[in-house]
Amino acid sequence: MAEAASISPKFLYDALGAHLFTALTFLPEYYPTAVEASILKQHTNEIAAAIGNKPVLIDLGAGDCKKAARLFESIKPSSYVAIDFSIDYLKEALEKLQNQYADIPMYGIGMDFSRTLKLPDSITQAPRTFFYPGSSLGNFLPTDAEALLKQIKREALGGGLLLGVDLMKEEHVLQAAYDDPLKVTAAFNLNILRSVNAIIDSNFDVSDFCHKVVVNHTKERVELYLEALRDTTVAWSGKQRAFKKGEMIHTENSHKYSIVSIQYLLNRAGFQSLKVWTDPRQYFAVIYAL
Ligand code: AVI
Repeated sequence: MAEAASISPKFLYDALGAHLFTALTFLPEYYPTAVEASILKQHTNEIAAAIGNKPVLIDLGAGDCKKAARLFESIKPSSYVAIDFSIDYLKEALEKLQNQYADIPMYGIGMDFSRTLKLPDSITQAPRTFFYPGSSLGNFLPTDAEALLKQIKREALGGGLLLGVDLMKEEHVLQAAYDDPLKVTAAFNLNILRSVNAIIDSNFDVSDFCHKVVVNHTKERVELYLEALRDTTVAWSGKQRAFKKGEMIHTENSHKYSIVSIQYLLNRAGFQSLKVWTDPRQYFAVIYAL
């Protein structure tokens, strides 16, 4: 039997994938974006006080930079460094933001920090505040998440991390969030096949697969798959891979934490002092870790 198939979640974010992701964050069923924004808004002053005066703000996975920009009024960064895979996308967002906040020096860095996080020496060598919202940490296996947190701790030079993490909750809420009735998440997931086709010149046919969500209680995560609707064979540069009807391709994990398990992970990564804010339903947590 062929090895279990998987595609790295990185390939979810080609140009269309990035737009589909933005679209799904507007879905009422996809609660993390709205709940995180409400926590950040409600506790702005306490968060700003915890971070302290005029930090160097490092935004991991900055995207359109809008989440960080909402913090500017309260935390008044001395400079802003936006990091994302694609520098092209960042450039546009940063140009707009720089016009709005002319007195905050801004820098964009195109970097895949999922492997190694090392800031260039030109970035201020003083305590830095990292901002890692959206529960993107949940897309890493816990061991890889710990490794990334350790690198953040090292690069913070004595500064802290403002982190957003999604919390474990009832299965039906997670199912709805990751398998929405408008099928935006299905499109986001299926698009990975076109993204792969463009990169390796394969011939995945999107209509041969469907979006599948599994809530894995043992591993405390939501798993995304693409299930073959019929027997099909995919070919690329002289190679081929047959898929049996019902066979699944694993595309993403979204780990959900408890307050205790994320505190444990942050402690293991070297963050000793933690402040936690959450919403009334305890769906999501924002943590300032030092
Ligand atoms: C980016 N990341 C935190 C999202 C999540 O919830 O794991 C990606 C996503 N996948 C499907 N919906 C959203």
